[in-house]
Amino acid sequence: MNFVSCFRQQRFIFAQICQNLKKRNRFISTFRLQHELICDKTTNSLHHRCCSSTAQLNQCDQDDATNRNKLFKFHNEWPSTIKSEFLRDMILLEDFVSETEEVQLVAEAEKTMKRARMRYQYDHWDDAIHGYREIEKVEWSPENEQIFQKIRQIAFVANVLPHVHILDLAADGIIKPHVDSSRYCGSTIAGLSLLTDCIMRLKRVDENEYAQSREGDNENATNRPKPNIQNEENKEFDYFVDVLLKRRSLYVMKDSARYKFSHAVLATKSTFNDKEVIKDRRISIICRNQA
Ligand code: OGA
Ligand code: MN
Repeated sequence: MNFVSCFRQQRFIFAQICQNLKKRNRFISTFRLQHELICDKTTNSLHHRCCSSTAQLNQCDQDDATNRNKLFKFHNEWPSTIKSEFLRDMILLEDFVSETEEVQLVAEAEKTMKRARMRYQYDHWDDAIHGYREIEKVEWSPENEQIFQKIRQIAFVANVLPHVHILDLAADGIIKPHVDSSRYCGSTIAGLSLLTDCIMRLKRVDENEYAQSREGDNENATNRPKPNIQNEENKEFDYFVDVLLKRRSLYVMKDSARYKFSHAVLATKSTFNDKEVIKDRRISIICRNQA
């Protein structure tokens, strides 16, 4: 396929996705995403052509800012460059799947875990996750596969791992702060958050510390490094953001959001903008790209 038809096809696919998502009325930043997806892909400037006019982008940025204010709560002093990088690299799409699609995904995830006789694990308190079971799955039903195709088109440029990670976190389970191992996971993590609202906290970390653990033995069998305890005293990195992950939303955490921040899912009762958020049992379905 020559370059121009490849580009046209990409535009067409993206227009379709945007239309579907807009129907659900909650799509944050269509234009921003469109811009990033296409600009990410190549250094060729032709790809910038599909960006909308400045006026549209500004309008979109305003909508985006309003939505993000509702869903992102920044704490402490953020250096402005880091904050704009973060806003570019952490994308949140509410209502990414419908209730029916959620039921369908959860049913297949549960069936897979049941067949593998998976039990919730509570025993290793020093692991990054507590109160969970997890499995990786390659073959999905055609309806669910369609959802993953949509995620792959939106979130990844290339090299998506063939398996999808199912993580079933019990109501009292938590994900402690950690950065996914660079040995097994590339620059992008896209996660569908199902069954409950919850809060994901992303806290600035010193990348150098994690760079060392890439080669080291600081990893458990599930490829997550131990939760980080460094930087607790380091004021330079003392800022974080709470992201309200509503049931059925998709997050895409890439580049700076993936490497410069640890991520965690807070325990059962937490507050977001002074409102209590009760996390119940949660199933997340996560796609990653290759390291
Ligand atoms: C993980 C993780 C996030 C999520 O499995 O490493 O951070 O959304 N999961 O469940
Ligand atoms: Mn993780």
